[in-house]
Amino acid sequence: MKALALWFVAAPLAAQSLPPAREPVAELPGAGRPVNLAATTARRDALFSRLPPGIVIVPSAGSRDLETDVLQDSDFRQDDDFFYLTGLETPEAVLLLTRPADAPQRTVLFLPPRDPAQEAWTGLRLGPGPEASRLSGIPTVLSTEALDSVRAVELALASGPIYTVARGPASDSAVAATWARQGRRDLVNLAPVLDSMRLVKDADEIARLRRAIEITVEAQLAAMRAMKPGMKEYQIEATVEYVFRDRGADRVGFPSIIGSGPNSTTLHYDVNRRTIEDGDLVVMDIGAEYGQYTADVTRTVPANGRFTPRQRAIYELVLATQQAALEAVKPGVTVGELNGIARRYLREHSGDLCRPRTCDAFFVHGLSHWLGMRVHDVGDYRMPLQAGMVLTIEPGIYLSEERLGVRIEDDVLVTLTGYELLSGGAPRSAADVEHTMKHGATDAIR
Ligand code: GLY
Ligand code: MN
Ligand code: MN
Repeated sequence: MKALALWFVAAPLAAQSLPPAREPVAELPGAGRPVNLAATTARRDALFSRLPPGIVIVPSAGSRDLETDVLQDSDFRQDDDFFYLTGLETPEAVLLLTRPADAPQRTVLFLPPRDPAQEAWTGLRLGPGPEASRLSGIPTVLSTEALDSVRAVELALASGPIYTVARGPASDSAVAATWARQGRRDLVNLAPVLDSMRLVKDADEIARLRRAIEITVEAQLAAMRAMKPGMKEYQIEATVEYVFRDRGADRVGFPSIIGSGPNSTTLHYDVNRRTIEDGDLVVMDIGAEYGQYTADVTRTVPANGRFTPRQRAIYELVLATQQAALEAVKPGVTVGELNGIARRYLREHSGDLCRPRTCDAFFVHGLSHWLGMRVHDVGDYRMPLQAGMVLTIEPGIYLSEERLGVRIEDDVLVTLTGYELLSGGAPRSAADVEHTMKHGATDAIR
């Protein structure tokens, strides 16, 4: 142990210059796409630059157990904060960032030692050593078995609190808690700092979101083409999720919502068992997850391919409301202001459609949320928009007595001068939706 401790003290002084940014690097053993070394390094540097001296501990997600976890939920998904700072999809790992007051910062990745018996079941895992260092861009990669001896060294060298991410009562890191207790340090929640960083997406994140959204747009088109009365909602769900996986999405970003007729007015309906009837509207709120990032795109379509005049009138009001909000998206505006613009537009353009009330009374959820690794992504909603933020714009009108719900939801990237509609490849106007459903072609739309 002593030898390890001495080595560790000496190593960081020499080893903190990062390997040159190359991307992509080779496939990681086991699960995981190549790490964007430049992006993950820049994020760790940005985190260092925002923090007073202290020790940061960010654990990865744990392994899932087929015997004890709910079966459908046994798919391993990395912890978002750990992924943000490392790009790695390996379980049971710990990231340590130390920022002493008067010495260079240190970054250490701890990985569980390789276990051939376990790997017979799980496949190859990334283990500690130079290969992991090369693939992760983190110069020092040690075994998790070294955590205790490293703790003694680090606590001796660095003052300040232990920072870790606490996103709920069960999410405190046991490793961080031990370090805080042993070192008699305060445990400080890193989530607000990480949230403000994650709110503004970098180029790597935007590329992942673009791919997730592109796949989701394809799934919307496939669902529109497949739709006909007599189908079960789950058959549309199956069409959607087939496209997701067929195009390389990792999983759904949230349970697919295929709500027909009365179910179109239930905001997060995901049972998807009803038979779709002639004359129904069908709300399809879906999002593929790709490379840890999720899309969130809703289209509402007439089951038989033709909106009734009443459905069309409500649809066009929702669409015009969305357009009014979209056109207001630019740096400096807040989500609250966008919400106000949408509600005012709905109120002022309701005419007799929702008599005796105005239609804003039936817009029963918020207009927008941040989008990223989580469908309702982290970030302070009071923050004025700035280039690189990604949000949804999703007005809706839900008339449950008429079994008629309409939601139109698009994903929007804030640019320096306004916005880019990332999900615009999915038909939005009533005419384009009908055209796609009739001809199964998108040439007139794109
Ligand atoms: N798909 C969930 C939402 O739009 O909030
Ligand atoms: Mn949404
Ligand atoms: Mn949605």
